Amino acid sequence: MNQLEGKIAIVTGGAAGFGEGITRVYVREGARVVIADLDGAKGQALAAELGERALFVRCDVSSRPDIDALVAACVAGFGVPDIVVNNAGTTHNNQPMLNVDEATFDRMFAVNVKSIFHMAHAVVPLMRKQKKGVILNVGSTAGIRPRPGLTWYNGSKGAVNLLSKSMAVELGPDGIRVNAICPVMGETALLEKFMGVPDTPENRVRFLATIPLGRLCRPSDVANAALYLASDAAEFISGVEFPVDGARTV
Ligand SMILES: NC(=O)c1ccc[n+]([C@@H]2O[C@H](COP(=O)([O-])OP(=O)(O)OC[C@H]3O[C@@H](n4cnc5c(N)ncnc54)[C@H](O)[C@@H]3O)[C@@H](O)[C@H]2O)c1
Repeated sequence: MNQLEGKIAIVTGGAAGFGEGITRVYVREGARVVIADLDGAKGQALAAELGERALFVRCDVSSRPDIDALVAACVAGFGVPDIVVNNAGTTHNNQPMLNVDEATFDRMFAVNVKSIFHMAHAVVPLMRKQKKGVILNVGSTAGIRPRPGLTWYNGSKGAVNLLSKSMAVELGPDGIRVNAICPVMGETALLEKFMGVPDTPENRVRFLATIPLGRLCRPSDVANAALYLASDAAEFISGVEFPVDGARTV
């Protein structure tokens, strides 16, 4: 039986990378998914490919009006979301911390952290009424075991990881579960920014050496974790920083 049969989900950044992996697995497992992304071309193409159980809404997660319109479109198109995956994220390039400018810092915190504030305002009242809901925030191993050159990004992900635990404590009595998913470096568009050098086999060696299982994170790894944590099989799991990291954070 499909693990998310009948569920309604919003996946931000759902058109590419980890988010695309989550979108595909959720639809495969019976959910209806609103793909929320800045990238209209990719989002529309993915929604068209996946058919009537996918809907694309163009959205900048750092904008409160965009988030409100996204949630309204979900409610109108599919219904109140059972699952919200706050996955959209961005980073500065790997570089000495004092080289990152203020505008880059502000934009990154708006996309990675403030988006969760906006989304909470939009969906928690709806989930409270239903006395259930699942919120998954894509944090990172960066917020647990930081690498040099990514200081401000690491801080934003530390905030995501901690917010997830704090939300879990506060929203538990409402039947709302909140967990952070913490991937290690992955095979997505962000990889070169994290590495700070071109993505070549030689340059990957240094990073692979820090991951005991010896490979980078794949969208399917994150998607399978997001499937479990959103499913009823995880009904008693909340407030967890769930590493998807090949033992990087041990
Ligand atoms: N790739 C990694 O190594 C890695 C590791 C740990 C955590 N993460 C986190 O995983 C999440 C997904 O990253 P990814 O690697 O799949 O990135 P990606 O760049 O491959 O995909 C991100 C998607 O989010 C969209 N997006 C970006 N900013 C947006 C915004 N403001 N509003 C709406 N959509 C927006 C992009 O258009 C893109 O489709 C991020 O939160 C990232 O910080 C990534």
